[in-house]
Amino acid sequence: MRKNIVAGNWKMNNDLSQTEVLITELLKQEQTSNAEVMIAPTSVNLFQAFNSTKNSNIEVVAQNMHFADNGAYTGEISASMLKSVGVKTVILGHSERRAYFNETDELLAKKVDAALKNDMRVIFCFGEELADRKAGNEEKIVGDQIKNALFHLEASAFKNIVLAYEPVWAIGTGETASPEQAQDMHQFIRETLNSKYGEQISQDMTILYGGSVKPANAKEIFSKPDVDGGLIGGAALKAEDFYAIINAF
Ligand code: PGA
Repeated sequence: MRKNIVAGNWKMNNDLSQTEVLITELLKQEQTSNAEVMIAPTSVNLFQAFNSTKNSNIEVVAQNMHFADNGAYTGEISASMLKSVGVKTVILGHSERRAYFNETDELLAKKVDAALKNDMRVIFCFGEELADRKAGNEEKIVGDQIKNALFHLEASAFKNIVLAYEPVWAIGTGETASPEQAQDMHQFIRETLNSKYGEQISQDMTILYGGSVKPANAKEIFSKPDVDGGLIGGAALKAEDFYAIINAF
C-alpha cells in the first residue's frame, strides 16, 4: 500500500546530548497529517533515540548498514545489530554514500538483499547529477540505478521497499527540483517499475522526493500525484521545520 512518509536524515549531525534535545523538541510538536514519521540519527545514537521515541509514532531508522551478518569488517554495522537496538528500516544508496564511500549499484544490491533477508524495510535512494540532467540523461541514470540494484528481486520484496528520488544537484544546495520535475521523474520511476513488475507494484510503491525540501516548498511538492513524501536533510534538524513539512500533507 502506498503511504505518505516524511523521513529526516540527520546525516553526521547531533551528538548524544543534541540528539536528546532534538527528540525532546520533536515530541512537543503537533502532527496534523497522517504521514509516517521517521528520523535517522547517526548510528551511535540509534539505541538512545529508539528508547526516547518508544511511546511516540516516530520511527528511528538507520542511515546505512553493511551487507554481511558479522565478521571482519572493521567499523561496520550489520542488519542484525541494527535490529537488536530496535531499528527496522535502513536508508541505502544515499548519494553521499555513493559519492564519498564509493558505493556502487552492485554493492547496494547486496545491501538491499541483506536488509530484506533480515526483514528490514529499505529506503532506497538514487538520483542523477547536474551534468546528467544538463545532458538530458536523467531518466537513463535513474532507470539504471533502479534496475541494477533492485531488478533481481522477486515481486514480493517490494512491499518492504520505499524509493527516494534525490537529484544530487538539489541535495543541501538550496536548489529544489521544481514540483513538475519531481512529478515527471516519479512518474518515470513508476513506469520503470511497471515495465518489470506490473501495475499493482508500481502503483503501490511509496516514492519520496529529497533535495532541499523546506516548509516553504513542501506543500507544492507533496501535492503532485506521484510524490508520496520526502527525505529531508537540513530542515529535519529543526523540530518546527520538520513538523511543518510533515504537516504539509
Ligand atoms: P537536504 O538533504 O534536504 O539537506 O537537501 C536531503 C537528503 O540528503 O536526504
